[in-house]
Amino acid sequence: MSADVLSEIREAFPATSPRRDESIRRAFRTLPSLERPRILDIGCGRGGPTLELARLSQGQVIGLDIRQCDLNELERAAAEAGLSQRVKAVNRSMFDIDFPDESFDIVWAEGSIFVIGFERGLREWRRLIKPRRFLVVHAATWLRPDPPREMLAAWRESMYPGTMTVAECADLVPSCGYDLLDHFALPEDFWWHEYFGPLQECIEGLRRKYPNDADAVRVLDEQQRNVDIYRKYPQWYGSAYFVMQRS
Ligand SMILES: C[S@@+](CC[C@H](N)C(=O)[O-])C[C@H]1O[C@@H](n2cnc3c(N)ncnc32)[C@H](O)[C@@H]1O
Repeated sequence: MSADVLSEIREAFPATSPRRDESIRRAFRTLPSLERPRILDIGCGRGGPTLELARLSQGQVIGLDIRQCDLNELERAAAEAGLSQRVKAVNRSMFDIDFPDESFDIVWAEGSIFVIGFERGLREWRRLIKPRRFLVVHAATWLRPDPPREMLAAWRESMYPGTMTVAECADLVPSCGYDLLDHFALPEDFWWHEYFGPLQECIEGLRRKYPNDADAVRVLDEQQRNVDIYRKYPQWYGSAYFVMQRS
């Protein structure tokens, strides 16, 4: 049986990091203060941001994802942090959210809106937000217009096929029913330090571990292509936070 190297790669990354938490805090601080807000974190994964939001807000946070193993990890980490009373994990697809209209003060999505698409996510999640309350999205973006053709092709195949520039995302916000309160891109070196650099090390370790596993080698080659393209064109790929208020 061949090794599940993609899962091993996922597990090699911590659920969050000090630098990631700092960017979450920066986005959160742009919101007005709310007393014990109800927050929905869509595509929460293992819940690094979910827990940080619980700590920052003192509110109730629901993490929603389709990977039960990640949700179990979120529940375990919430218990360890003494946050079980305020953090809940829900196994549900973002395509199938059935909370009533206007259930939340804040809907938050980190690294997950690409699944549904930026515009569709903004439009569909709006009904979940109370009037004049908030949506915060952290999305993969091009940091400059006209990404190199080689990078576009590689990203279309493997990373985030619908990636847009920061300005293109920002321009869509009003037509989807929000005011854009703030947006900021993460610093250019963020993705090398937080993702592609550690990914490179992880690939090298897994190559040593599974030298004769053809399936594992194929997956590692694909991952290596992403690292190589990023290394070649680091100024283009990045991500940005968009802080929006339901209009
Ligand atoms: C890149 S991870 C981001 C995880 C987390 N938000 C974070 O920032 O650490 C994307 C997450 O989206 C989740 N996801 C993918 N498809 C989904 C769907 N249809 N509904 C809900 N979550 C989904 C994945 O399981 C994964 O946990």
